[in-house]
Amino acid sequence: MISFQSKLPNVSQSIFSVMSQMATTENALNLAQGFPEFNPPSELIEAVHSAMLNNKNQYAPMPGYLSFREQIAKKEFDLHAIQLNPESDITVVPGATVGLFVAIQTFINKGDEVIIIEPAYDSYEPAITLAGGKTIRVAMDLNSLQIPWDELKAKVNHNTKMIIVNTPHNPLGTVFTQEDWQNLSNIVQQSNAIVISDEVYEHMVFDGKQHISVLNIEGLKDRAIKVSSFGKTYHCTGWKMGYLSANAEITAELRKVYQFLAFACNSTAQMGIETFMKIENNWEFELAKFYEQKRNLFRTHLQGSKWNILPCSGSYFQVLNYDGHTTLNDMDYAVQLTKFSKIASIPISAFCENREKTNLLRFCFAKNDDTIIQAANILCKL
Ligand SMILES: Cc1ncc(COP(=O)(O)O)c(C=O)c1O
Repeated sequence: MISFQSKLPNVSQSIFSVMSQMATTENALNLAQGFPEFNPPSELIEAVHSAMLNNKNQYAPMPGYLSFREQIAKKEFDLHAIQLNPESDITVVPGATVGLFVAIQTFINKGDEVIIIEPAYDSYEPAITLAGGKTIRVAMDLNSLQIPWDELKAKVNHNTKMIIVNTPHNPLGTVFTQEDWQNLSNIVQQSNAIVISDEVYEHMVFDGKQHISVLNIEGLKDRAIKVSSFGKTYHCTGWKMGYLSANAEITAELRKVYQFLAFACNSTAQMGIETFMKIENNWEFELAKFYEQKRNLFRTHLQGSKWNILPCSGSYFQVLNYDGHTTLNDMDYAVQLTKFSKIASIPISAFCENREKTNLLRFCFAKNDDTIIQAANILCKL
């Protein structure tokens, strides 16, 4: 027997895999893991196929094809008025998870502190631990869904090297307002912290609200890395495609690390997405309407049920509160619902360190309308 010391002794299989597997074995509707039930647009699939047939099958340049990065820069400008130099400010990576990992490995040294806001996406903390950093958690108020900015401010000190934020938020569906960004900007001014902004749901913002990126904020944009994912935007989570945007100085450092992690990412997906971005100008606008309609469908069909429906301004997740249904904690209730009511969800405690009694479950509505209605009908019977 060999012996080894685990670098992540407290980590087990992710809750998303656990609940998805349980959904399969229990033959339950899977509203747990966040992936669309539908395919990418056929033009996009054809464009990737055609890139394969046109011999784009070898290594892409390390930061991504320049023509692709130019297209990304154009989109960032057209949609968010963000100005990026495609040569020096954009790095294409194999999905946002890898992008986050690269950003954390690049800037976190042993003993550095990284502030994350919980509920938090599950990849942040292990990536910080692997870099030798220390995770400092700030808990959102699960009633008001607000970030306690004073508490966050109190946790910033000379060891704080990074703050990670996420808007639109997984799992809570909240979006940063100008005031949130201003609060963060005021807090970081006296520090040496880089801000990572996980914006993978940037094109799913509802009710006429606008996505505000960290790169729109004076005082933050020169110390920030924006993390984006094509998987969410084009219904192709399985392709694992994303990109990092940051100024030239930060990007140069990111690329030093990235080149030894993956070197480059999927060439044909890059070419295909570039072609699709050129032919489809209105996609992101339509995407917001598409998911808003799905959110509304789910919420409408839950009216009159015992569930308390939390607000949802963005992402493709709806959180429901089950106060009064049961005394079970959220993990046990999620398991019970999967086994006996045949509907799988994710307990919110899975995104937190020490909160078992959230009474909140997350449901993904990136599903066909029939699935959404079927899910709501099951939930209404409880
Ligand atoms: C908040 C958040 N960040 C990052 C990711 C990872 O995105 P990708 O599939 O591009 O790695 C996800 C995926 O669910 C997410 O919800």
